[in-house]
Amino acid sequence: MSPLKTSFPKDKMKIVLLENISQSALDSFTKAGYTHIEQHTGALSGEELDTVLKDAKVVCVRSKTQLTEEVITKAKKLVAIGCFCIGTNQVDLEAANKAGVCVFNAPFSNTRSVAELVIASAIMLIRRIPDKNRAAHAGEWDKDSTNAHEIRGKRLGVVGYGHIGSQVSILAEAIGLRVFYYDVENKLPLGNAEEISDLKSLIEHCDILTLHVPGTKQTQNLFDEQVLNWFQKGQLLVNMSRGDVVDISALKEALEEKRISGAAIDVFPEEPKNKDEMFTSPLQNVSNVILTPHIGGSTEEAQWNIGLDVSSKLIKYIESGASLGSKSIPELSLPKMEDTHRILHIHKNVSGVLSEINSIISKLDVNILGQYLSTNLEVGYVVLDISKNDSLDTLKEFKRIDHTIKVRILY
Ligand code: NAI
Repeated sequence: MSPLKTSFPKDKMKIVLLENISQSALDSFTKAGYTHIEQHTGALSGEELDTVLKDAKVVCVRSKTQLTEEVITKAKKLVAIGCFCIGTNQVDLEAANKAGVCVFNAPFSNTRSVAELVIASAIMLIRRIPDKNRAAHAGEWDKDSTNAHEIRGKRLGVVGYGHIGSQVSILAEAIGLRVFYYDVENKLPLGNAEEISDLKSLIEHCDILTLHVPGTKQTQNLFDEQVLNWFQKGQLLVNMSRGDVVDISALKEALEEKRISGAAIDVFPEEPKNKDEMFTSPLQNVSNVILTPHIGGSTEEAQWNIGLDVSSKLIKYIESGASLGSKSIPELSLPKMEDTHRILHIHKNVSGVLSEINSIISKLDVNILGQYLSTNLEVGYVVLDISKNDSLDTLKEFKRIDHTIKVRILY
């Protein structure tokens, strides 16, 4: 597939990469023909950031660079922001939306990394490796097989059968686990997995429980004292979702009372902000507990995939206007059109703009080959595929429409 021709020359399209973003992103941009790429290893802020962004069309960040309303407003040429991470907390999304700047992230690129660690942790727990490991480090030779089991044939209960939960389900079946799941939404079972309609039955039915719910008001303290009391037969618990889903003190009690015989916990209600801060948890030094520092999704492969995912979304947006996955401006999935010009018009979502667009089209007698619209509360996003002869006049007229935020002609 030959790359689309854009009206804005690719060699002049300044793309800024901050915070040591994966080489896979740089490779994607260069492969797509973008050569004006500026790289900085660290995060930037203040005047330095403003200067770098003054003539930038695209900025790519990880989680440290703060793209505030002030920064976004000053970066007048900015068309898109790539967050090369899972979340978008570092960007003022409302400001980006109002400025017509499209924001992408990579919410699912580390799914496999988490799923693998869940399976690995379940095997470690069922063999009581945390205790054996500690003993061996202390010079003890504990070869006893009591309470060490194979994972094959055991029942795994997945709470939250979304991207990660369903990946865990596939890996688990491949090594002989029987999979059951509970989700608040109807989810199609993969393989031989079976849905269980309530959480209590799932817990009572399974040997190992693994949590993959999002962080919402409903999931906060979902595994509180009452729910943890439903564990009675020395089951195992894995939490790699959110730190506030499990009541840690109640979990400690259940572990000490052997109602739960082991736990792998990767996320905590309070986590250190950086390497220098001390990590403390009531679960430290509790028998058969694996504690990891929120690294479920932290692998080099995940970083590589994030690089590919976000850069390809950015390239698609720059070249075709497709905004599917956008966290700011309205989402549009667009077909590719041959032998047309495509004009993008982002405007304030107020009455009158659409009728003005349509009256310009009829005034200029523009031949429309495709028209797409999506809106959110603040912003409307219109894409027009028009006959090549009509494009320049239309563009000029569109720029004059009141409440216009951004207009671009693509190809
Ligand atoms: P997802 O959105 O694809 O799936 C979540 C699933 O949970 C959905 O199917 C949803 O319907 C279900 N759900 C929501 N509320 C529920 C409830 N009260 N009870 C049962 N099911 C419920 O999310 P994804 O990508 O699978 O992520 C799951 C969790 O893993 C998130 O909390 C995310 O932050 C976390 N995560 C942790 C990482 C780590 O490093 N430990 C890395 C990546 C994600």
